[in-house]
Amino acid sequence: MILQWTVDVPVEPSLTALMQMAADYAVQAEGIRKRCAVCVRLCDDDAIHVINREYRQVDRATDVLSFPTLQYPKGKTAGQTPSLLSEAYDDELNACMLGDLIISVDHIRQQAQEYGHSEQREAAYLLVHGLCHLMGYDHMQEDEKAVMRTMEERILSSVGLKRETDAGISDETLLALARDAREKSYAPYSKYRVGAALLCANGRIFQGCNIENASFGLTNCAERTAVFKAVSEGERSFTTIAIAAEGSAPWPCGACRQVLNEFAPEIRVIVTWDGQVAEAPLSQLLPYGFGPKELGGA
Ligand code: THU
Repeated sequence: MILQWTVDVPVEPSLTALMQMAADYAVQAEGIRKRCAVCVRLCDDDAIHVINREYRQVDRATDVLSFPTLQYPKGKTAGQTPSLLSEAYDDELNACMLGDLIISVDHIRQQAQEYGHSEQREAAYLLVHGLCHLMGYDHMQEDEKAVMRTMEERILSSVGLKRETDAGISDETLLALARDAREKSYAPYSKYRVGAALLCANGRIFQGCNIENASFGLTNCAERTAVFKAVSEGERSFTTIAIAAEGSAPWPCGACRQVLNEFAPEIRVIVTWDGQVAEAPLSQLLPYGFGPKELGGA
């Protein structure tokens, strides 16, 4: 699914990465075969208030507004009306435009706090809720509400955001973000593509990929890319790192173990490859490690 972003209020890249993954899965879960597009605007409460007043005569800010392009026959959704999608196919865009979503970043933050779950979950939930509307779902009647909720849950669980794991970030979400980071891998020499997602104690997530170089020794591993991104953005407290590759288990190399040990000797390391998952604490991967403590530091 093409998400055409208008970002008035910048958010963490991990939020938009999760939203993109959820959107891709939504199309798949709905059984849509055509390429689809949606315009997504991330704005503040003042901006969504103005839109809500002008287009819906509701004089207050809200979390998400959906403006569908297509009019589905009563009781039908996008997946059940392929001919409608074919008619609406835009050759120039090379996709079928499903509509516009406006999401308030102020509401993402407030509601995440209120419900005691991560901003990632709230952002993904609001996107999925809006997308379901754009695909013809509604929640006015009890029966249609149940169908919409089931669809929302299915999509959210595909990116590891199940109801039971509302609080915090689940391992599945972190693994999904590591697989997503792997898409950006630059590995023309080894062809061994690696992605990582590093979870900070405060819930921020940094993604990284391996970046190779014609001068082989200058290669940077996915894990260190993620750690360096995080540290250069002011984060030093890490709880979990997920690492994704294909073909073999991407346990961190010695250099990455050492770099992780600098900031988080107790970090959990989860690896995934070929549909398998394994985990170990860094303390087991780097026993008797040398770190700041040995120099009299923290
Ligand atoms: N690689 C990583 O990104 N992480 C590791 O911990 C192991 C190795 C990358 C580096 C290089 O681009 C490729 O995998 C083959 O060594």
